[in-house]
Amino acid sequence: MDKTQDTIDLLKEYNQHHIINLLSKIEEKEKEELIEQISNIDFDQIMELYDNTKKEIEIKENKIESTSYLDKEKLTKEQKEEFDMLGETAIRKGEYAVVTMAGGQGTRLGHTGPKGTFKLDVYGKGKYLFEILAENLKEANQKYETIIPWYIMTSKENNEETVNFLEKNNYFGYSQKDIIIFTQSELPLVDTEGKLLINKEMKIKEASDGNGGTYSSLRASGSLADMKERGIKWIFIGGVDNVLLKMADVTLLGMAIKKGVQIASKSVVKANPHEKVGVFCKMNNHPKVIEYAELPEKMAEETDINGELKYGESHIMCNLYTIDAIEKVSKEALMYHSAFKKNSYIDENGREIIPEEPNSYKFESFIFDAFEFFDDIAILRGKREDDFAPVKNKEGVDSPKTAKELYEKYWERQKRGT
Ligand code: UD1
Repeated sequence: MDKTQDTIDLLKEYNQHHIINLLSKIEEKEKEELIEQISNIDFDQIMELYDNTKKEIEIKENKIESTSYLDKEKLTKEQKEEFDMLGETAIRKGEYAVVTMAGGQGTRLGHTGPKGTFKLDVYGKGKYLFEILAENLKEANQKYETIIPWYIMTSKENNEETVNFLEKNNYFGYSQKDIIIFTQSELPLVDTEGKLLINKEMKIKEASDGNGGTYSSLRASGSLADMKERGIKWIFIGGVDNVLLKMADVTLLGMAIKKGVQIASKSVVKANPHEKVGVFCKMNNHPKVIEYAELPEKMAEETDINGELKYGESHIMCNLYTIDAIEKVSKEALMYHSAFKKNSYIDENGREIIPEEPNSYKFESFIFDAFEFFDDIAILRGKREDDFAPVKNKEGVDSPKTAKELYEKYWERQKRGT
């Protein structure tokens, strides 16, 4: 069987003539590697995703309702104590693990390394985002006399740098055997004509396929099996960029245990109708988050009889699952969303093109798209000043400046015990 000819036939079938051209120009070793890469690409899937970029997102045909939640502030003393006790017991028994999604590029922040290696200017010396997360977990470990296994998801692009950074900083004092680093998967980038981009290494240019890849990557990397071996029953999955993220919130965990749900999440009230956060709702009786980029303006601004935003519970990437829930969704195919972005590439003459305008589609699945595989979710409304201080943009809202302020104020309040 002629592998090269088979590859050429495949590329012809999917209208990728520029890659056939490339194959004829590169050296034997590069050619072999490219053919190998091509053999692992699901062209049907990519072409379907590309075709979908031309269709409008249909939200109209679905039955959409606002979601119910419990407000942490308004729990009765008995309720709060019961939740806390249930949550604390599970953590003390070693049934709790944490996953940090750190595969994103952090382009908006303008930081060149992995986002977790960004140093926030707090308390003079500053703290890295990974350091803040490690401190949060170490505090919980001390309080509940356990060591919570910490799984960190990187991308192919930032894995090496992340591992080196953590090693250099001695894992911020976290026991190394309890930090498990795994890498998420990637998908090719496609231009406006459905052609795959080529990178400087003469390979097909791929990029992380979104944080919805966390579930399948947990399974594929063996991390899920590792969790089972450790006797884990509950898994918290959070982002890397919220400096007030509580990775071991006993109230959230206890609420989930008490309610007998498979998934739970912490929310905060949306700051304004156009804040860039996903919002919780119910779609066709299943829990759902609509991402900010896909939320129709009318829904964003809709208010209820009390004048509050109807879709005002923000998704702050503070999600909790039973191990069975992770097992289940790790085998499901989540939908992909497309983002039209600027991506450099090598053209047919071997020149690098750095576009000034968006030129290609990146396909990503979102972590919360797994929620619709469940009948119910338990949502705990937290407080913005205690729970949400993201570092997203270089300046303005959700910037290092706003995060620093919120972080320092929070810790001042903690010291004062208020
Ligand atoms: C995200 C949420 C949004 C939420 C907001 C709150 C998603 C899809 N969107 O938006 O609903 O309201 O945070 O701050 O979750 N990541 C990966 N791999 C990837 C892509 C992202 O690990 O391929 C990680 C990032 O490192 C980060 C997190 O996922 O920890 C969120 O990614 P980001 O692209 O920053 O999402 P936002 O647009 O901020």
